[in-house]
Amino acid sequence: MNKELEQASFSQGGSEKSDVLHNLADYKFYIENHGCQMNVYDSRKIVDLMIDFGFTQTFNSQEADILIFYTCNIREKAAQRVFSNIGFLKNQNTKVIAVGGCVAQAEKENIFKHKGVNIAFGPQVYHKLPSYVSSVLSGQKDKILDIEFEQDKKFGCLHDRREVSYSEFVTIQEGCDNFCTYCVVPYTRGREYSRPALDIINETKTLLKNGAKEIILLGQNVNSYHGEAPYINIGKPKGTWRLERLIQEISSLDGLRRLRYTTSHPKDFTTELMEIHADTPVLPPFAHIPAQAGSDRILKMMNRGHTAREYLDKLKKFRDICPNIHFSSDFIVGFPSETDEDFEDTLKLVREAKYTISYSFKYSRRKGTPAAVMDSQVSEAVKTERLKILQETLLKDQIYYNNQLVGQTNEVLFEKVGRKPKQYIGKNAYSQSVIVESDKNLIGEFANVFIEKASENSTLGRLA
Ligand code: SAH
Ligand code: SF4
Ligand code: F3S
Repeated sequence: MNKELEQASFSQGGSEKSDVLHNLADYKFYIENHGCQMNVYDSRKIVDLMIDFGFTQTFNSQEADILIFYTCNIREKAAQRVFSNIGFLKNQNTKVIAVGGCVAQAEKENIFKHKGVNIAFGPQVYHKLPSYVSSVLSGQKDKILDIEFEQDKKFGCLHDRREVSYSEFVTIQEGCDNFCTYCVVPYTRGREYSRPALDIINETKTLLKNGAKEIILLGQNVNSYHGEAPYINIGKPKGTWRLERLIQEISSLDGLRRLRYTTSHPKDFTTELMEIHADTPVLPPFAHIPAQAGSDRILKMMNRGHTAREYLDKLKKFRDICPNIHFSSDFIVGFPSETDEDFEDTLKLVREAKYTISYSFKYSRRKGTPAAVMDSQVSEAVKTERLKILQETLLKDQIYYNNQLVGQTNEVLFEKVGRKPKQYIGKNAYSQSVIVESDKNLIGEFANVFIEKASENSTLGRLA
């Protein structure tokens, strides 16, 4: 490695302030975030760490001294966006450019080929970013690369949120040991790490005390959570808690109105978790359980660890245990060697599964993953065609479910304003968008809505 890129050695926690920079508050930072919900959690934490260290946040990139890009590497498009944005946002005030997250982890020192980048930091070391920024500002270093995996240290350095929103994420598990052959996550986020249950409970309690109403537990493979149990039975080791136990504990905390968790892997979805859904009012009757494909041959090549039938049987069992449950899923079309027959199997699975909502993607060839070097890569044209057919099929179910909602009263948590004046948009228990008109600002509020109309992607209603 280039000598200049040697990792800077700071004590953890980003708490060592620079001797050279006296007025840190004069330096404004701007953060741009891409990627999954875990990146939202991370970037909220980065903002707090930077402010705690003494820097000032700005929402205007043009006046920022420090530009932070927190990135996603899951598909090629997501990764490319970072570099066009750096060029776009850089200006005469820019003194430090830091690229963090999954692209930094994957690209390593190659990040510095992009002019002006000073710091490349992986998703497991962002607690050290404030120190790194200050050492670039003070001229001690010009290039810093840190892509260590130190999940336990990172979580140990994070403090309570400065400003709590009505809906907050709590990362409970990070990294992935599943190694699906198309996916970068095991390489960018590292091996699976589960936070101790007590840390999660304490973080959640503080968020609820400070105004959060909805908590979303996050993990790349959230239902394989196995964190240290909080209690010591004298003479016995602490043991571990599974997601099921953690949900039971958190669901009874004061102030919690809605609890979600994502993302689940089908093979780790237990009958006990289904039963907890049936018995836990704060858990909406909704589960995101990605299938990815419907052909057993492709599922095997993807290393998903289950067949289409095993997947569908789980959904059926879940519906038996919890009759009002709704599902969503992710799909990849055009995985290497996928034939028309394989794709037909995906459509068959979709027709049987009946999803309320789903996300589908064209397979993207990711450097360093086993699938990237598989024979028979599928052409772009075929991927485009299959994606269109799949999305039309998924949309039919989505419209069907939205229409089913008409005449029902749903509890909605409002998140943003709509396009028209006085419009507010929120999510019902099934993560479907619901739009209402109101004179009162509804953002961050739960309200019951009588659903009057349904369209493809949302429903319209009036406050009940
Ligand atoms: N841990 C989650 C998914 C994380 S990535 C899980 O296992 O379900 C989110 C979604 O991105 C995946 O479900 C998959 O559908 C999609 N994805 C991941 N890698 C991809 C790739 N190389 N090309 C296209 N889509 C991909
Ligand atoms: Fe990626 Fe598979 Fe892990 Fe999900 S389970 S993060 S798709 S490797
Ligand atoms: Fe993207 Fe990394 Fe999340 S690759 S999807 S930001 S785990």
